Amino acid sequence: DYARERRRKEKSFNIAVFASGRGTNLQGIIDAVEKKRLKVNLSLVFSDKADAQALDRARKHGLETLHLDAKKFSSREEFEKELIKYLEKKSVDLIVLAGYMRIVGPDLLAAYRNKIINIHPSLLPKFRGCAGIECHRLAVSGGEKETGCTVHLVTEDLDGGPILAQAKVPILKGDTPETVADRVLKEEHLLLPAVIKDISEGKGKGC
Ligand code: GRF
Repeated sequence: DYARERRRKEKSFNIAVFASGRGTNLQGIIDAVEKKRLKVNLSLVFSDKADAQALDRARKHGLETLHLDAKKFSSREEFEKELIKYLEKKSVDLIVLAGYMRIVGPDLLAAYRNKIINIHPSLLPKFRGCAGIECHRLAVSGGEKETGCTVHLVTEDLDGGPILAQAKVPILKGDTPETVADRVLKEEHLLLPAVIKDISEGKGKGC
């Protein structure tokens, strides 16, 4: 009936995950959803790369996937317009950037203001703008005693939006960028689902 349908709709919180690469953070979200630690609908997994491992992971779990090749559009605006169509069709409440290697443009930002989060592998504002292993190289070569990861709201300011949560790890004697990367990644897989959970429950700054 109508009342039941409304209650059901009120309860479901739809997320889209954007990933360009291997998708271990996506996997962390999938696992949390499947184990019911995270009660959200993983409505869409989007990638700008046709061969992203993230898409394979999504398909393996029966999730809806979308790939759009930005090069096939005349501009970023056209690309994002098309993407927004899919997001609206899926009534997406929150976009999670998990290793998404493309800058979010003004159209997508305007359509989903305060509804896009990103995970970055450093303790922001340290090492803004770095990507992947480069962030850990900077931390190790800079003699940092600790590093970590940050989940933040996405704004026009690259890696500069309001910080929602951070997790720290120590940098130990003998560490290499690779050993630090492994340590940080484990934390990423816990932090991102935890932040999504808070937002979906109406806690925290997002949405
Ligand atoms: C992670 O280190 C994340 O912090 C960064 O990109 C990497 C994505 O890894 N934004 P994966 O594709 O989730 O394995």
